[in-house]
Amino acid sequence: MATEKIAERLAIVGCGTMGDAIVSGLLRAEAVDREQLIVTTRRKEVAAALAARYGVEATTDSVAACLKADAAVFALKPQTMPKIAGQAAIAEALAGKPAISVAAGVDLDKLHRWLPASAVIRAMPNTPCLIGEGTTVLSRGAEVGDEAIALATRIFETVGLCFELEEKHMDAVTGLCGSGPAFVYVMLESMADGGVMMGLPREVALQIAAQVFQGAARMVLQTGLHPAALKDQVTTPAGCTIAGILTMEDGRIRSVLARTVQEAAKVAGGLGDVAKVDR
Ligand SMILES: NC(=O)c1ccc[n+]([C@@H]2O[C@H](COP(=O)([O-])OP(=O)(O)OC[C@H]3O[C@@H](n4cnc5c(N)ncnc54)[C@H](OP(=O)(O)O)[C@@H]3O)[C@@H](O)[C@H]2O)c1
Repeated sequence: MATEKIAERLAIVGCGTMGDAIVSGLLRAEAVDREQLIVTTRRKEVAAALAARYGVEATTDSVAACLKADAAVFALKPQTMPKIAGQAAIAEALAGKPAISVAAGVDLDKLHRWLPASAVIRAMPNTPCLIGEGTTVLSRGAEVGDEAIALATRIFETVGLCFELEEKHMDAVTGLCGSGPAFVYVMLESMADGGVMMGLPREVALQIAAQVFQGAARMVLQTGLHPAALKDQVTTPAGCTIAGILTMEDGRIRSVLARTVQEAAKVAGGLGDVAKVDR
């Protein structure tokens, strides 16, 4: 994780699950001082609670927040985006400033139409951002410079891994990275069920399964070895692991998982439609 401080004042427009994860990540990483953050919500009481919890400025006035800030992160639901990001006053307040949106399915074209004078960036994070273990992919709009991308990267690095791809990959990223944790939970629970079936207490089985997923994932990331090579290392001839793997293959596990991501990506492609009510 990078350690340099962010110089800009940031408006987090919409501060629910994802906005909150970003605020706590930024503060935990000491990437900003509290005075550099202005968060906005719809309800006054939610803003007050955030101000009390984080010691940051909080308001229901997103236009005022964007005027004060040097950059904005939109963490609103896709269907709320047209109402807020689509306001002429927001476009004016953010002219010449980076504007980053995490709204699923809201593409760069739409962001650019709403905020024509801003450096628009689309971000797709996932829920492990809530514990600082997320993955976020960024895509930049035409003519967005490296400085704005560096700022967005620095923001999302405080809640996990962050890198940039071309926007054409965003549906695939949504299927793999955004929906991916849910697929892993199903796999993890199923493996724990196997342990329970063989007599392990439920909590123990879940703990072991979760640690197995974490350990195996870290082996791939830290060794850089192909998963197939790591699998070969643990399959003794005529042993129990190859016996289990053949059972997985009988169930067509590979194509089921690959198609799962493919299907999620296809559906992700249509998600922006809920935000079609734009100006
Ligand atoms: N959650 C995830 O894991 C995840 C992952 C990837 C991407 N995303 C994207 O992140 C975005 C936010 O999702 P979320 O789960 O964080 O939603 P959420 O928990 O419902 O938060 C939405 C926030 O927007 C605020 N809001 C609503 N209307 C507003 C308005 N008119 N002015 C100012 N603020 C307003 C809400 O304030 P009130 O609480 O006062 O209503 C709330 O703080 C979505 O577009 C989603 O696609 C989420």
